[in-house]
This record gives sequence, C-alpha cells and structure tokens, in this order.
Amino acid sequence: MLLRMLLGVISISAPSALAVWPQPAEIETGNHVLWLDTALQATLRCDNGEDQFHDQNYLIYKNHLAQILDWMSLHAQGFMDTVQSTFTDKSRNGEVDFSESSIVEDAVRDTLSAIHGSRFVPWKLHKRNTTFEPDQSAPRQYISRLQIQQRNCPPPERFRPSSFFDGDESYEILLNNGTAFITSNSSIGTVRGLQTFQQLFFAHSALSGIYTPFVPVKIADRPKWRHRGLSIDIARNPFEPQDLLRTIDGMAMAKMSRLHVHATDSQSWPIEISSLPELAQKGAYHPSLVWTARSLREVQMYGASKGVSVYLEIDVPGHTASIAHAYPDLIAAFNELDWSTFAAEPLSGQLKLNLTDVDTFISTLLHDILPRTGQYTSLYHVGGDEVNLAAYTLDETVRSDNPEVLQPLLQRFIDHVVGTSIQFGLRPVVWEEMLLDWNLTLPSAGHENPTAQTLVQVWRNSERIEEVLQRGHRAIFGDYHHWYLDCGYGVFLDPYATGKSPPGVPYNTSGGFSSRLKKPFLDYCAPFHNWRHMYTYDPLAGIARGLQEGVEGGEVLMWSEQTDSQDLDPKLWPRVAAAAEVLWSGVRDESMLEAATSRLGEWRERAVVDLGIRSTPVTMTWCLMEGGCNL
Ligand SMILES: *[C@@H]1O[C@H](CO)[C@@H](O)[C@H](O)[C@H]1NC(C)=O
Ligand SMILES: *[C@@H]1O[C@H](CO)[C@@H](O)[C@H](O)[C@H]1NC(C)=O
Ligand SMILES: *[C@@H]1O[C@H](CO)[C@@H](O)[C@H](O)[C@H]1NC(C)=O
Ligand SMILES: *[C@@H]1O[C@H](CO)[C@@H](O)[C@H](O)[C@H]1NC(C)=O
Ligand SMILES: *[C@@H]1O[C@H](CO)[C@@H](O)[C@H](O)[C@H]1NC(C)=O
Ligand SMILES: *[C@@H]1O[C@H](CO)[C@@H](O)[C@H](O)[C@H]1NC(C)=O
Repeated sequence: MLLRMLLGVISISAPSALAVWPQPAEIETGNHVLWLDTALQATLRCDNGEDQFHDQNYLIYKNHLAQILDWMSLHAQGFMDTVQSTFTDKSRNGEVDFSESSIVEDAVRDTLSAIHGSRFVPWKLHKRNTTFEPDQSAPRQYISRLQIQQRNCPPPERFRPSSFFDGDESYEILLNNGTAFITSNSSIGTVRGLQTFQQLFFAHSALSGIYTPFVPVKIADRPKWRHRGLSIDIARNPFEPQDLLRTIDGMAMAKMSRLHVHATDSQSWPIEISSLPELAQKGAYHPSLVWTARSLREVQMYGASKGVSVYLEIDVPGHTASIAHAYPDLIAAFNELDWSTFAAEPLSGQLKLNLTDVDTFISTLLHDILPRTGQYTSLYHVGGDEVNLAAYTLDETVRSDNPEVLQPLLQRFIDHVVGTSIQFGLRPVVWEEMLLDWNLTLPSAGHENPTAQTLVQVWRNSERIEEVLQRGHRAIFGDYHHWYLDCGYGVFLDPYATGKSPPGVPYNTSGGFSSRLKKPFLDYCAPFHNWRHMYTYDPLAGIARGLQEGVEGGEVLMWSEQTDSQDLDPKLWPRVAAAAEVLWSGVRDESMLEAATSRLGEWRERAVVDLGIRSTPVTMTWCLMEGGCNL
C-alpha cells in the first residue's frame, strides 16, 4: 500500500534511448509503449518458389502461458542440459533433424520464449526515485503478430555450414503498431534480426508483462566483418561443455559469429579421438575432463543454432607435448628440465619433423576430427605458432636448428595438414608465423576454390596485418597488446626457491643462475586490457585502404594458464562484447566511449539477469544511473 502511494507521486524520467548492442548501422526510435501479447503469433515466410518453411504462411509460434511457465522452470533447472538433450534426441534416431529451416524455426520460438520469460527490469539505467516504467493500470496496446520475411528460403537438405554461415547477415526491423516485421535475405540474417529484436524489450517490475517503450522502431543493420570471433583455450586448465554453451549465449547476444576452440596443448589433451583413444585417456588431466565426440558435437550444434560457428584448433607441430603420454616416440624434447630453451612455457615437447609415424598419426587424427567437426563449421585451425627451433636439435630425425634445413620439412608437414583440411571442405586458418617467419607457401586469397583461401591469424603485432595482406592472404586481427583477455593477472611461474637455477638450467650448464622472475611478478602482456582499451583498438590503423578489403575480421583471445570454469565469465564479459561491437559496427573511437558505457552497461545487466552470465560491471552503478561519469 505504501509502495502504491509512493508510485503515485514519483516523477517520470525522460525515456532513455534504445540501447541495442552492437550498434546497428541505421536506427530510429520513438517513445510510444507497446506490450507484448502473451498470445503473440509469429509467421515465417520465404520467397523462392516451393522450397519454403512448412507452408507459405507457416504459423511457427503461438505462445501460451503454460509454455512460458514451462520455459521458466527449465531455465531454473539448468536450461543448457535440456537444450543438449533436445539435440541429442534429434540426432539419435538416425535421421538428424538439424537443418537451416529447423534452426530458424527454433530461433523464432526460443527468442519469443526468452523475451516472454525475461526478468530484466532496467532500474540501474535510471536515476533513483524516478519512474521509468509504463503505468501498468493504463489501457494497453499490444504487439500480437511477428512477421518474418526471408528472401531466400533455406536449402531443404541437411545442414550445410558454409551455406548457412556465409549467408547475408543483414536484416531490417520495423515496429509501428501491433505487427512487428523482420526482413532478411537469408537464414543467418533472420537469426541476427531476432538477436536484436530481443533487445527491444523489458520486463515490468510488477511482473505484469513485457513491453518496449521505443515505438516506432526502425532498424536496418549489417556487419562490418564476417569473422567476429572469440578464442578459448580449453587445454591449459579444465573446462566443461557448459562453459562454452553459456559463452555461446553471450556471443549470440553480441552477434559474434565464430568460436575458436584451442582444443589441445602441451599440458593436456582433453579431446576424445575415437581412432586414437589413448590420446585423451592418457593426455587429459583427469578422466572426467575428456570432451567426448558427443559433447563436442552438442556444443557445435548449439553454436550453429545461435549463428556461432564453433571451430577447432589442434595446434601442430608445436604445443604438442601431451601427445607423448600416449605416443612417446612421436615427440622430441619432451619435458626437458630446461623447458624455456625448448618451449614458450612448461612443458616442452614438439612433434618430430621427419618421421613417417608422425605423418600417419596426423592422417588418422585429421580423418577423425575433420569430417565430424565439418558437419557444423567450415573452418579448421591448423595452429603453427611458436615452433621451437632448439627442440629439433633433440629430434633424431633431423638433429638441426637451422631454419634452412627445417623449412622444407615444415612446408611438407603443413602442406599435409592444410591439404587434408581443404580435402574435407574445411577452410584452413594458420597462425602468422607460418607465413611471416617461415615463409611457407599457403593456398591464398586468389584461389578459385574459396575453401582453399587460407586465413592467417595475426597475434604478435598489428603492423604485421598489412604484410599478410600484401602477400595475398586474408587476415584475422587481435594482437596481444590489445585483444588478449589473459593479460595483467601476473605470472603463473615461481622463482627458484634456492635463488639459483639447478644443474642443467639453462640447458647443458651447471646451473647457478638467478631467476628471471622479479617483483612485482608482472606477466608478458601486462597491463590488463580493460574494455575501453579493447573498444578503441583500431586494427586498420596504418593499413593501406586498398588492402583493407582483405581483412576477414578479428578475434579476442582467452588463454587459460590462469583461468578455468570458475572465473571464465568475469574475464570474458563485458570485454568480449566490447570487441564484438568493433567487429560488427566497425572501428570505434574515444568520442563513442561515453555512450558505449550506457549501452554496454545495459547489455551487461541483460546478460547477467537473463543469461546467467557472471559479467564484471561496466562502470560504477551510480554512474550508470546518473547517465555517465566523465573527467
Ligand atoms: C521521490 O521524489 C519525490 C519528488 O519527486 C519526493 O517527494 C519523494 O520524497 C522522493 N522519495 C524518496 C523515497 O526519495
Ligand atoms: C538484401 O539484399 C538486397 C539486394 O542485394 C539488399 O538491397 C538488402 O539491403 C539486403 N538486406 C535486406 C535486409 O533486405
Ligand atoms: C502497421 O505498420 C505497418 C508497417 O509500417 C503498416 O504496413 C501497416 O499498415 C500498419 N498497420 C496498421 C493497422 O496500421
Ligand atoms: C629425413 O629423414 C630421411 C630418412 O630417414 C633422411 O635421409 C634425411 O636426411 C632426413 N632429413 C633431414 C633434413 O635430416
Ligand atoms: C623468411 O623471409 C624473411 C624475409 O625475407 C627472412 O628474413 C627469413 O630468414 C626467412 N625465413 C626462413 C625460415 O627462411
Ligand atoms: C653440452 O656441453 C658440452 C660441453 O660444453 C658440449 O661439448 C656439447 O656439445 C653440449 N651439448 C649440446 C647439445 O649443446
């Protein structure tokens, strides 16, 4: 009763702007309120002749209160588990009902369920003691229809990753009255439109419904870059499929398109390879930490259903010591006492470079992993970073650290991996060293087969992007000075307890050297890269205009020496979303930061409340409520 009286006298704050994240190319909004009808009907139509969704005018969604409650209780129990088992059930009966049209239909249903089930009341975006919500007792106008018009119908056959992911991502939203419209040219465009549509709505604090206060809404949107990626290393520390599923939810809400899973490394091999079972049995940190073929497939299917292509990296020939647990004869310089001579971090060990058994191993591995991951992605990451020269002095098949001796062998090795990847229809991605340090010949952008256009991922220095482009390759940016998420947390190593290095460190010496680690134990890429730093990174700086077309996009990267399931979310978010806007909307500048704080702040609250993502705050709550804090 007291609350009602207070509500009766409090002032009405000016309506804030619609905060879509990432920023759409064109957006116009008003300040009229529409409520979402709980019996909203959605229809999906596509144009080209007979290949349509089930009908010319297919009623895809008719919401009932029971369904909403159902969805909410699923959410409370662990929505992820339910989604996973839905996919598994779908694929168990032999006939896999996973196609572009099922993705779009599910996306419509899931989006509407999520909007109806939202608990996001944006009080943090408004000053204290102001009313920002529509009067719930006033007469309501409703949105009762959602019409989705997709120009090109989804192909009728089973899911084809390149056809889906390489579709036109542009979309338009129009909301004037009781009928909302989403228009697109392709299935992925429809998915992107729905991802924005979801951000138009808020929950009323009295739980009396879902509304948007911004009508009329007119949005026309398209991405700057196709490759809008996040890389997560699941080998250095333990992760579970649920971690990636939750991350995919956040990526989808920021319209990211590619999840790069750095799946194996020297420290552990968590990925099950059925044709080489001992790899994971012996190479995983613990039997409970093996990613089965089924769980990997579920993560990929979940990603595809949200427009996120989940692709794998099995880094070779470096970063491979964990193979030695199952196949000791394939690895040179395994676990040397002086690891720092033979690897970038403990432990050392690298695939031998001139051994038939290694070629056979690589063939078996690729024939296992490529066909199955290639059902849901059109990319494969070959690795190729930090190949250590000294390790080959201990490789009895070469016994040399001379780049001129090693280069032809490495070319042959990479030709094998890249060639097999293309043979299975997967476009290869390599780390920059293969091109820039080793001068390897790789299939390039000029190739008539698009699958054979190698993508080169630049991580050391953005000045190298131009060099990659000049050599005729397409580039992925995201260097460690700007877009590494693991920087600034300090080293994970300790100085020698005795103060001096033991005999044999450095290699082949009697030891007695002082530790290189000094107070305050900063890491190699300190300081911490905050979201404003990531947001204002300009990957195109200094790159000739004529070459910029060759940039495929970028990735933010989460290396996991000091990260696991427990702290993944706060390390990723909101920084990944900040990068996502650079990738979708184009290069940002400092003048955009103030507005970004408020829009990203809203994105973060929505992610916390509706996706259960444990994101770090974007700013202090007081600043968010007051509309900004400047200096
Ligand atoms: C809210 O603001 C009104 C004036 O707009 C004022 O009269 C009232 O005391 C305020 N309430 C609280 C709890 O601060
Ligand atoms: C669809 O394709 C047409 C023709 O290329 C283009 O003009 C339009 O912007 C695209 N996107 C949408 C949402 O219609
Ligand atoms: C609703 O808005 C759409 C799009 O502007 C328009 O075509 C339609 O005629 C409107 N319907 C009504 C009933 O005003
Ligand atoms: C590679 O191995 C072959 C046969 O084992 C040997 O003849 C050749 O010299 C080796 N190459 C190098 C560079 O060591
Ligand atoms: C690659 O080319 C660069 C520049 O021409 C040269 O400095 C480098 O030594 C070459 N690397 C190898 C492994 O041949
Ligand atoms: C180790 O040191 C000895 C003595 O200095 C030297 O003869 C030998 O070549 C060294 N071995 C390696 C692999 O560096």
